[in-house]
Amino acid sequence: MREPRVGVVGATGAVGAVLRELLRGRDDVRYFSSARSAGMQLDGRTVEEATPEALAAGDLDVCFFAVGASASRELVPHAVRGGAVSIDKSAAWRMEPGVPLVVPEVNGARALEHDGVVAVPNCSTIQLVLALKPLHEAAGLTRVRLATYQSVSGAGKQAMDRLREESVEQHDLRGDWSFDGEEFEEEAKIREETRKIFELPELPVQATCVRVPVLVGHLQAVWVETDDELPPAQARELLAAAPGVRGVDFPSPARAAGQDEVLVGRVRSDTTVERGLTFLVAGDNLRKGAALNAIQIAELLAREAVAA
Ligand SMILES: NC(=O)c1ccc[n+]([C@@H]2O[C@H](COP(=O)([O-])OP(=O)(O)OC[C@H]3O[C@@H](n4cnc5c(N)ncnc54)[C@H](OP(=O)(O)O)[C@@H]3O)[C@@H](O)[C@H]2O)c1
Repeated sequence: MREPRVGVVGATGAVGAVLRELLRGRDDVRYFSSARSAGMQLDGRTVEEATPEALAAGDLDVCFFAVGASASRELVPHAVRGGAVSIDKSAAWRMEPGVPLVVPEVNGARALEHDGVVAVPNCSTIQLVLALKPLHEAAGLTRVRLATYQSVSGAGKQAMDRLREESVEQHDLRGDWSFDGEEFEEEAKIREETRKIFELPELPVQATCVRVPVLVGHLQAVWVETDDELPPAQARELLAAAPGVRGVDFPSPARAAGQDEVLVGRVRSDTTVERGLTFLVAGDNLRKGAALNAIQIAELLAREAVAA
């Protein structure tokens, strides 16, 4: 069987760079960007402009989109029209009814219901739901609260360049997301996406997000409450056995950067509530939080196509 013909739209960006790294060694891959970077040479390939015509031409089987939401809204329908399954990293399609929002280890079967588009959740949601999944299966989640410490690469390549140019004295915590009512859009996304993935539309989820002067890797402090008692020792065992998760003593962004798995540790009882646990989760926001998760969705769809 021939290899799928793959397009990477947004190949010049922060997520695009990790997609290119993970696709290295494959021949049938084309890179796309806006007109700004079209013509640039990357990995011996010429970057093409992502025009509607190019994407709809019918010569791509899978198209990864790592562009902003407005470019995605405009371009994805053309790739779908051309017959490419479009796996999108932006917020454009995530909450659309009928568009699966997928983390393969958590709700992979949903990807098979796609109608041309599969959405990849926000980077913070991905690492959170990987850790929540085994706890939910064992004891039933009734409430989730978290504080995030998110790296600047979550805001893209330009934000990474700005951090590199800053002096240590200029480093500060930031809240560089737009507001959605009282909360940042990021905080609302974590709630809405977690509810969609677990198919628990009423699950109470409350997040407070902070940007920290770290290049790659998001950390989360999480507090959960469950229906059934779940002692920390049992939670640690469940987390250690969960796909996509590695149990460690102290998760940190630097330890998580470059890793496929998310790191979970400091699992303790939350002594302020009945049946409560607290723990830390660290994940590489560009890798499992974006590029790797997208590639795993494509691999899952390819396996199912072979099996069918
Ligand atoms: N960074 C993360 O940790 C992360 C995690 C999860 C999700 N995401 C999401 O993934 C997407 C990409 O994020 P990023 O951090 O990689 O952003 P980025 O570093 O700013 O890169 C943006 C990419 O999109 C391209 N682009 C912009 N406008 C375009 C257009 N009209 N047509 C075609 N290509 C266009 C850019 O190409 P040029 O070089 O031509 O400008 C560049 O390749 C965003 O939706 C983001 O929210 C990011």
